[in-house]
Amino acid sequence: TPDGWINRNPELLRLTGRHPFNCEAPLTSLFDAGFLTPPHLHFVRNHGAVPRIDQHQSRDWTIRVHGLVERECTFSLQDLQDEFQVVTLPVTLVCAGNRRKEQNIVRRSLGFDWGAAGLSTALWTGVYLADILHFVRPQKGEARHVIFEGADDLPNGSYGTSQRLSWATSYERGMLIAWAMNGLALSPDHGFPVRLIVPGQIGGRSVKWLKRIEISASESQHHLHFFDNKVLPTQLTPERARVEKFWWYDPLYLITELSVNSAVVKPEHGELCDLIIEKDRVYTIQGYAYSGGGRRINRVEVSLDNGLSWSLATIEYPEDKYRTVPYEDSAFGTLDLTERDTNFCWCFWTFQVPVSDLARSSSIAVRATDEAMNTQPRDMYPNATGMLNNWWFRVAIVQST
Ligand code: MTE
Repeated sequence: TPDGWINRNPELLRLTGRHPFNCEAPLTSLFDAGFLTPPHLHFVRNHGAVPRIDQHQSRDWTIRVHGLVERECTFSLQDLQDEFQVVTLPVTLVCAGNRRKEQNIVRRSLGFDWGAAGLSTALWTGVYLADILHFVRPQKGEARHVIFEGADDLPNGSYGTSQRLSWATSYERGMLIAWAMNGLALSPDHGFPVRLIVPGQIGGRSVKWLKRIEISASESQHHLHFFDNKVLPTQLTPERARVEKFWWYDPLYLITELSVNSAVVKPEHGELCDLIIEKDRVYTIQGYAYSGGGRRINRVEVSLDNGLSWSLATIEYPEDKYRTVPYEDSAFGTLDLTERDTNFCWCFWTFQVPVSDLARSSSIAVRATDEAMNTQPRDMYPNATGMLNNWWFRVAIVQST
């Protein structure tokens, strides 16, 4: 295949055959690896072949910044590293298709089957996009959007997407032009030598193999920005969406921020649970949760009676560890979340239940809520692209006895 030159972890589950490469780790492997995902378990979403870029010339890689700016510039990776403050942020990337498989079982969508492992977390090192934009000085009034383009060559042109200028210039939103992941150079699948990282938004905004940034009056016209990454009204079937494409893919339906979501990881689907009832014996249910836009998860609730009653789970926020001390390192630059209130990472939850209660129940349901009181809905919202599926996550209880 065009990607045959890349070494890939055989443990990853391939979701779209041999090419292009799209994969997620088995959910329990991802979860057991902890807060930071080792690069070999990080999910991959490629729309086409990975551009073949010489390892030794990465410092000469250039990004052109142009359009409605006072000064157009071309930066080499070396320029970015030498001229701007180097920062590191922990960020969870989530594919908009995470959990799509559940929807495809009910009503097939246009997209392929992601389980619940279409997300991963890394320490991303780079420079603030806002620094670059302030340097090139967008033209006041006219400039409204920032368009990003990658080097991959797809059937309908390059991969590209855009951001509102006001978001792209906000340090609070933490957008980075990044060249390292957990202290190591990006791997080819994750955008070597340099990519955009957009915290709190769907993964599709984090353009890999970044080549060009254009400041513009209008949003990106790239094919996938327009005809993908949208949640279309549920009345529209995938078949009609294909035929009536130009009618339905309205900019109104564009998705940017992630929706609130959670999953049960333990027990996993189909796992035989040992529910032998003994006095004081408890079972620990575990999982993850996240939300978009930097919003913190403020409750995770578990139901053993199909949503009639709910109990609070205990939440742990490993991201907070990075808020206590500023961290300086020559490889990482500044890792300083001490003044940052945003939540850009997944959090973990546990719920301990007497085994006797679990043995009497037939399913576990979980729902998370964020600080804006966005909560996961009971019902699915089947949509043609199958994106942002975040209904209650449910696992049937299968007993081993
Ligand atoms: N950037 C380019 N140039 N080409 C792509 O196919 N896929 C996007 C985004 N950036 C993509 C891209 C999508 S849909 C996602 S979810 C993330 O990259 C996935 O990043 P990862 O493969 O590093 O996990």
